[in-house]
Amino acid sequence: MSINLETALARHKKMKRYRVRSVLQSWSGIQRTYQGKNCISFSSNDYLGLAQHPDVITAFKQAADEYGIGSGSSHFLGAYSSVHRALEEALEDFTGYPRALVFSTGYMANLSVLTALLTRHDSVFGDRLNHASLIDAARFCAATFKRYQHNHVASLVNQLCRTQTSSARHTYIVTDGVFSMDGDLAALPDLVEIARKYSATLFVDDAHGVGVLGKKGRGISEYFNVKPDILSGSFGKAFGCFGGFVVGSESIIENLLQFSRPYMYTTALPPAIARAAYASLLLLQAEDWRRARLHSVISYFKRVAAQLALPILPSETAIQPLLVGESDSAMQLSAYLFQQGYWVNAIRPPTVPEGTSRLRISLSALHSNRDIDSLLEQAAIGVKLLNTSC
Ligand SMILES: Cc1ncc(COP(=O)(O)O)c(C=O)c1O
Repeated sequence: MSINLETALARHKKMKRYRVRSVLQSWSGIQRTYQGKNCISFSSNDYLGLAQHPDVITAFKQAADEYGIGSGSSHFLGAYSSVHRALEEALEDFTGYPRALVFSTGYMANLSVLTALLTRHDSVFGDRLNHASLIDAARFCAATFKRYQHNHVASLVNQLCRTQTSSARHTYIVTDGVFSMDGDLAALPDLVEIARKYSATLFVDDAHGVGVLGKKGRGISEYFNVKPDILSGSFGKAFGCFGGFVVGSESIIENLLQFSRPYMYTTALPPAIARAAYASLLLLQAEDWRRARLHSVISYFKRVAAQLALPILPSETAIQPLLVGESDSAMQLSAYLFQQGYWVNAIRPPTVPEGTSRLRISLSALHSNRDIDSLLEQAAIGVKLLNTSC
């Protein structure tokens, strides 16, 4: 029986899950203008402040002059250029994996890995708090999909043991590197060991780790000094750009090329975007001070938030969630902060579990200590107001 469309929307509203897009008038760096009001954004994943870097903009403009805007067809049908190849080679050097493949988005990169590499005889084990793109990838592929408790090694082992007796051909363990709504890190060294023990392939989505973690910004594998079998990333976060990628062995990437439908049946990433991502990759390596500044912002934020006794979830990364609880309260706190001149997104179910709505505070190398002081001061007042109104 099909559900009435109006009923679906009404139910969605009643559950406080209805979303509207805010039409911003302009933005520049961490500044945003909405409804004629200027505010400071704590909502962007442009962690290193590269989105408006002059080198990235120039690279984009020059490639647009040369190639135009649209790529015109798919990567296999005449839209794979020396610009794409150069980006893939630079990613191979940067990550230390034998081969890289560039995708139109990080979402498609994740979808590709599981849908192209797994069959119905295989099994996927995913962390319960994985990003939607990994969950969708596991649902859309033919393999059996099981979820283990968040970052809970014993829960994963328990699931693996139970599945050992079946005739699974390939076993994949799939996790975010940095969890996108919590900011905490996957227990990568443990996962590498478990994958080895159970002959599983470890696939890590490091969308929020690359550029941020590790001395050279190589992400979670540099941070822990261990390497998963497959790693994906997005150019939409610390690169300040657009697109996605996967790195892995020769045979993994060749299989993606041959069998990935999200790679094959879509218009190729425009060369101007690929050239901009290439410029970002160079900056991300050359301008270490951006990463150092970001980490100093993160430490400062944590210190001040602790002094104010704000309920911030444990995180060492640029994603600092302020736990609120109910959807309505998170929306109210976000609205209050906007009135005070801060743009901070409220994140509600189904993106996060019921009762854990939060403000997802994203930090950037562009924030000053003063920005942090004033945001947290207002957040503390906002939380107090919420508590006194209930
Ligand atoms: C952990 C994670 N993986 C993948 C993606 C998707 O990347 P993209 O925005 O490039 O499609 C996101 C972005 O929302 C993400 O947070």
